[in-house]
Amino acid sequence: MTRKKLNVGLIGSGFMGQAHADAWRRAGLLYRNLPMEPVLHTLADATPELAAEAARRFGFHQGTADWRAMIDNPDIDVVDITTPNSMHVEMALAAIRAGKHVYCEKPLTVTLSDAQMLVQEAERAGVKTMVAFNNIKTPAAQLAKQLIDRGDIGTPTRFRGWFDQGFFNDPDLPWSWRCSREQAGSGSLGDLGSHVVSVAQYLMGPVKSVMGQEQIFIESRPAPGAGSGYGASADKKADRIGVENDDQFQSLVTFENRAGGVIESSRISAGKVFGIAWEVSGTEGTIMMDGERFNELKIARYSDAKHDRGFKTIYAGSQVEQFGGFFGFDFAGGGLGYFDVKVIEIYDLIKGLSGETGCFPDFRFGLENQEIIDAMVRSSSSGTRVDIRSQEV
Ligand code: NAI
Repeated sequence: MTRKKLNVGLIGSGFMGQAHADAWRRAGLLYRNLPMEPVLHTLADATPELAAEAARRFGFHQGTADWRAMIDNPDIDVVDITTPNSMHVEMALAAIRAGKHVYCEKPLTVTLSDAQMLVQEAERAGVKTMVAFNNIKTPAAQLAKQLIDRGDIGTPTRFRGWFDQGFFNDPDLPWSWRCSREQAGSGSLGDLGSHVVSVAQYLMGPVKSVMGQEQIFIESRPAPGAGSGYGASADKKADRIGVENDDQFQSLVTFENRAGGVIESSRISAGKVFGIAWEVSGTEGTIMMDGERFNELKIARYSDAKHDRGFKTIYAGSQVEQFGGFFGFDFAGGGLGYFDVKVIEIYDLIKGLSGETGCFPDFRFGLENQEIIDAMVRSSSSGTRVDIRSQEV
């Protein structure tokens, strides 16, 4: 059977650009039931040299330094945005106005008003959208959702989640766009905490109100020289630039279903590597996930016989349909890594674009995420609890 081709236009070739390119290629290879065949059509980056080098390395037909022309090319079906946060809005808007489907890295935008505008525009144009919240695409997160929906832990009463990394712990690591309110919005909260918020949205439903507080510990960093990505090295002699957003953030959360919660993030948590973790307690049990062991869930069921009580490990695997792309037989537990989750995300995206399913999480989910982040930041500066009024857009 010949599958319809899906021409991909990718913007950005940094950490996420590479992860997306890898996932587009492997989704086509791993999932035999893919309804469309992804074609790596054009890669746009900031300069012709960057674009040409990445296009060659990732296997795109061509590279360009003109992302607008790429979006306007009638051959492009879906625009994939992996640029720094502040560029998302302009690129997503141009893609929507050109009638293209849009797949955008998180957080959707820097400001809430931009996220509202994008949702309006996308829904009016009738294009499909997805925001890259890959932490709700892990088999463990999808299995947790199945268990919660099946009633295994009763009525959820509390969510706890944090995303701690230590990648910015060295004060001599160079300043990057991640430190700028204008280019990134909040700091660790938007960068890392937004993932935890996405898991809370997915497993617990809408958030009603929040209280937040934040700290900046490293108030300036050396001006970037040879790169500003996660792996950039320190240059102690460079002039220092001020850090404008949170190194770490803590928030109390109340959900509309009356459950309570705590959400935290840090980019200076020394020793933490992929420190995302979350747990949901309910009236009949508790589920826990540790990001450094994300092929597993721990569950304790209150109904267990006394001599069986305690946390048990469940391997996340074939219970989740998307896992089957990697192991074409019944399997569970070991096997999937960080970049594989992006393959799952793209599999879901392609199914959504083909009309087999909706695209989830879409820009509206991204807007709700942004509303929660925005309310946490406002609460931190006002020192008061802030209600989330789901915006009528
Ligand atoms: P990065 O700095 O490694 O890459 C950014 C890319 O955008 C670079 O290739 C850069 O040259 C390109 N770029 C900059 N200006 C451009 C322009 N005018 N035209 C075309 N390309 C341009 O950043 P990274 O880490 O890849 O982050 C990008 C996005 O991905 C951010 O929104 C970030 O929040 C998100 N992210 C998501 C993660 C996840 O787990 N879902 C993990 C890391 C980042």
